[in-house]
Parts: sequence; C-alpha cells; structure tokens
Amino acid sequence: MKQPAPRPKVRDFLFQGTDAAQDIRDRYGYDGDLVEIFTGVQGAMVHKWHHYLPIYDRYFGPWRGKPLKFLEIGVSFGGSLQMWRNYFGPDAVIFGIDINPDCAAYDGHHGRVRIGSQDDPAFLREVVAEMGGVDVVLDDGSHHMPHIRASLEVLFPLLSSPGTYMIEDLHTAYWPNFGGGLGAPGNFFDDVRRMIDEMHCWYHSNPADTSGMGASMSGISVHDSIAVLEKWRVERPVNSRFGTNIRPE
Ligand SMILES: C[S@@+](CC[C@H](N)C(=O)[O-])C[C@H]1O[C@@H](n2cnc3c(N)ncnc32)[C@H](O)[C@@H]1O
Repeated sequence: MKQPAPRPKVRDFLFQGTDAAQDIRDRYGYDGDLVEIFTGVQGAMVHKWHHYLPIYDRYFGPWRGKPLKFLEIGVSFGGSLQMWRNYFGPDAVIFGIDINPDCAAYDGHHGRVRIGSQDDPAFLREVVAEMGGVDVVLDDGSHHMPHIRASLEVLFPLLSSPGTYMIEDLHTAYWPNFGGGLGAPGNFFDDVRRMIDEMHCWYHSNPADTSGMGASMSGISVHDSIAVLEKWRVERPVNSRFGTNIRPE
C-alpha cells in the first residue's frame, strides 16, 4: 500500500543561505527597516519566516510611533519583544504572555511578560485590564486550533476599534497534531470561512454564528500561514448611482 508522504516540518524550510536580510529583500521586494530590526536582534532569540516581515509591516505599520497597546501571545526566548520594541518605538505598551514560567525572566526587558495560558479567559482579561486595553494582538502561541479559537473569542471583543488581530503559523491548521488537517473539522480556516460568511450576512439568509464578532469585523485577510482580522465599524452597505444610461435601448 502506498504510504502518504510525511508531513513537512518547519526545519525543512530553514533558510540555507548566509544573508537573511538580502534574501527577504530579493524574494519579497521588501526593503522596510523591519528587515534590519529583525536580523539585528541581539542577546535574545527570535525565529520568523521571511515572508512574514512585509506582512507585519503592512498591517502593523500604521501603528508605529504611536502609544499603541500591543499584546503578543508566545514569548519563547524574548527576541520578538525586542524586535517589536525597536519597531513600534518607546511609547508603545508591549506585553507578552506565555505558559512557560521561564519566560518571566524577560519581564521588563523590552516589555512586560505575564505567565498564563492563552486559553484561560480570566488570565487574558486580567492582562488586557493591566494593559489598559489592547489595539493589536499577535497570536504566536501554541498554534493549537482550540487555543487559537479560545484566545480569539476573548480578545477580539476586547480589541479597540480600530484594532488588528493577527494569527501566525497557521500552517498548523493542516497538521493533525495541532488539531488541524486538510479538510479536518477543526481546521481554523473553517472558522475564517464562517467569519467571511458572517461579514456577508447582508446578502444571504443564513448568517453564520461566530459569537457576534462579525458585528465589528471589518476586514479578513489571509496570507501564507497568517490570518489578519481587522476591527472597525461595520455598517449596512449602501450604493449610489451617478450619471445617465446613455446606451441606446
Ligand atoms: C513560537 S514560540 C513564540 C516565539 C516568539 N513569539 C518569537 O517570535 O520569538 C511559542 C510560545 O508559545 C508558548 N505557549 C505554548 N502554549 C501556550 C499557551 N497555552 N498559552 C500561552 N503560551 C503558550 C510556548 O511556551 C512558546 O514559548
């Protein structure tokens, strides 16, 4: 019997060259300073897929230099908090959460670190209350489907408007050991599909139920392994006509 091909691993995609910054510039035509900020992280470790950098800049760029409130789920070795501090600037309120108590060692380095699980609603609410609200969430935590869903259900309603909610490493949506799988019922992209249906509730008679998030979800974008959910006013759509139909009948 033919065995299915083994699922790819993250290390199968590891960059084999010597100049990651140049690779990002060449491959994606992106030359923002996030390239230097990422490759210049020192004294802490950060691991990012190259194609994420232009995507981060596209959605997070408008928040730079502002006193935004940024929450990253998943601190790991602290390198990403250093990267975000250098990217967003000194006025940003930056918090990271992680289930691993060792991450408390990074508290105060480039932001605040709190220890708890991303699927604990009371913990998430406590952190957001301490932050004084949240404008941008980046979910780089366990990447398990139920955890992604649990965090989103608590944090999206707490997000400011405008607000940005990004989930990365969603290739795990295709991996059974993360609760996903191609065509599997737990695949997070099925949730995204329901959100898209709800966004278009004006045009069909069976609006999907996604815990009411659709009432303020103004944009849904999908990139390789990344979903971005934007929060802003959602209004019943209207259209207008101008000019005259001059085509002969
Ligand atoms: C991919 S790493 C984060 C990497 C970091 N953001 C960076 O870019 O350098 C994922 C982190 O999520 C944490 N994690 C795993 N399960 C979690 C959970 N249930 N709640 C919060 N954090 C969790 C892990 O301990 C790990 O440090």
